[in-house]
Amino acid sequence: MTILEEIRRDHERAKALLETIVEGHDNDARLDAFKEFSSLISAHNQAETEILYRAMEKNEESRFIALEGEEEHDVADRLLESLKKSSSKTSDRWLARAKVLKELLEHHVEEEEDEAFDKAEEVFSREELEAMGGKFTARKKELM
Ligand SMILES: [Fe+2]
Ligand SMILES: [Fe+2]
Repeated sequence: MTILEEIRRDHERAKALLETIVEGHDNDARLDAFKEFSSLISAHNQAETEILYRAMEKNEESRFIALEGEEEHDVADRLLESLKKSSSKTSDRWLARAKVLKELLEHHVEEEEDEAFDKAEEVFSREELEAMGGKFTARKKELM
């Protein structure tokens, strides 16, 4: 699989988990979903930055979109850290913050899959994207 296919698969899972976290009514299920989400998305963002964005930064064509993506990862990571640290994961304040993270990630994923993926397909060959896919999966496993 190419790195773009691997990434898309994580996005689908992350979006489903966010739906449960923000819209769910059962607190245990919401907290389980948050646990899985936070470990998935921190590993995903880190591996994506290291393997996809760092490579895209080296090409003038794709450099800016990669930098923008990395900045969005930083904002998402900070929100995630504060959600993880909070002692009351069922409060309205926590839920409001989780909703902001959901909206941010939805925007980020949309931009990533449209603009960044298009650029990546322009600047890398299918073979390169497949090699990056292997590295992405291995790195994510290390981080999770
Ligand atoms: Fe992503
Ligand atoms: Fe991303």
